[in-house]
Amino acid sequence: ADFDALISATGSGGELHQHAAEGGRRLTTAQGVVIADNQNSLRVGAPGPTLMEDFILREKIFHFDHERIPERVVHARGYGAHGTFTCTRALPDVTRAAPFDTEGKETEVFVRFSNVAGNKGSVDLARDLRGFAVKFYTEDGNWDIVGNNIPVFFIQDPIKFPDLVHAIKPAPDRDFPQAQSAHDNFWDFISLTPEAMHTVLWQMSDRAIPRSFTTMEGFGVHTFRFVNDAGASTFVKFFWKPRMGLQSVLWDEAVKTNGADPDRHRRDLWDAIDRGDFPEWDLGVQMFDQSFADSFAFDVLDPTKLIPEEDCPVEIIGTLRLDRNVDNFFAETEQVAFCTANVIPGVDFTNDPLLQGRNFSYLDTQLKRLGGPNFTKLPVNAPKGCPVSNYQQDGHMQTDARKGRVNYEPNGWGEGPRAHPLEGYVSYKDPVSGDKARLRPASFADHYSQARQFYISQTSSEQDHILAAFVFELSKCKEAAIRERMVAHLLNVDAALAQNVADRLGLPDLPQPAPAARPTRTDLAPSPALSIQNP
Ligand code: HEM
Repeated sequence: ADFDALISATGSGGELHQHAAEGGRRLTTAQGVVIADNQNSLRVGAPGPTLMEDFILREKIFHFDHERIPERVVHARGYGAHGTFTCTRALPDVTRAAPFDTEGKETEVFVRFSNVAGNKGSVDLARDLRGFAVKFYTEDGNWDIVGNNIPVFFIQDPIKFPDLVHAIKPAPDRDFPQAQSAHDNFWDFISLTPEAMHTVLWQMSDRAIPRSFTTMEGFGVHTFRFVNDAGASTFVKFFWKPRMGLQSVLWDEAVKTNGADPDRHRRDLWDAIDRGDFPEWDLGVQMFDQSFADSFAFDVLDPTKLIPEEDCPVEIIGTLRLDRNVDNFFAETEQVAFCTANVIPGVDFTNDPLLQGRNFSYLDTQLKRLGGPNFTKLPVNAPKGCPVSNYQQDGHMQTDARKGRVNYEPNGWGEGPRAHPLEGYVSYKDPVSGDKARLRPASFADHYSQARQFYISQTSSEQDHILAAFVFELSKCKEAAIRERMVAHLLNVDAALAQNVADRLGLPDLPQPAPAARPTRTDLAPSPALSIQNP
């Protein structure tokens, strides 16, 4: 009986056909020609050769053949949803950023959560950092906070990013392992990168196996600037605080979940929104000035450091609510293009070197990933709160067909858009001077103090989890020298942690602690623990 309701005809070879009813939607080619038979290709004889003339078959297969686009080089596996940001505390004296100009103001947003290391088809509960990217569609243009669920990052300089990611991703010869940290190459690189120690401590903690996207914190990581109408700047760091509280799973739960339900996090988010149980986060900010920044021994522009909340409280200024699932995963979640350089008047950059590097990388990678310079026209990327009006034209997949002769400015025809000095984006006047050189400031050199502070801030069971994670991960590492180098770093973080890791890994002797500060350009003599012979 089911069959009778679902099909309208049976063909000569027994195949089942579904035909449009009178007035029903017709199946067509991309050129709009109605298709008569969607089950049989055009051939001579039965079964006879298939004809190249069959434009319907060729067009259908041609389009299918090109369905895939490159996955993101990092953060390939992700899941997105639409929502609203509501300002709960206006900051008109601090920033002219539109979302914060009036209490109660609502701004439309799109959010994508992601795993960093795994490919698009990997599992949700890998031990990994998570991306937390938010696009605000404001009336002054689109603004993205492209953050992670951990407040610090592995490296201080973008020139190291390709090496970091190569070491994190599967090895080039064997294409495994797919998990981020259970990896000789990963630990080899990390053991030779002292600046990564703070982030690695977070990564070995419960933070890296969140129970759900909805129970994760988010961090903008870098220090940004808020800029007000008068052009005055305040340093700002961004925080997303989940209303459901911060929750993680145990490692054993993560391992089992990955086997039994590798889509756990995306299903959880979809289902919550679908049943009207809308997840919420508060947006918090740490705001401070230059003299406060100068009061720390570390540099607030160093992305491997955080500013303790005891020293600078996080002030809540708004709420994010996700209340609409996507209509189409590819069109929205896959094609969304976040970029740290997408800022609006009232938000500006600092000289955090990693942030400066990211500002280049996202647009560059998206040009390739999304097939040309017109991806800003895709509905998920196009500004919603304001018109777009400029002289950019043509290029792959151009969908605008603007009329008129004027495609340049200045022009004497009195036509076309013009710059607006008062309403337009004006960069903060940041005085800079210095020598052009490949240098890292001495203020970036302490790689262990905050790693230690993080470790001792954990409860004893959380510390046990960190220990177990190091032992599990490093036990997968076949090279004894790599394990030793990691223990040498841990000796600078916490002596008992290092000793326990060494004991459980069966290290015969404790190594010397790693040199406490990274060599600078003036101090480049190879240090024993860090020098390796090139082949
Ligand atoms: C994605 C580069 C550091 C957060 C990406 C992508 C690239 C990239 C090329 C893929 C983008 C796309 O195809 O659309 C870099 C570089 C970094 C860096 C060069 C350092 C030099 C960071 C840091 C964070 C971060 C520190 C967190 C604060 C993200 C997020 C995504 C992403 C959340 C996924 C965005 C999405 O959901 O589409 N990054 N990244 N990245 N990155 Fe970074």
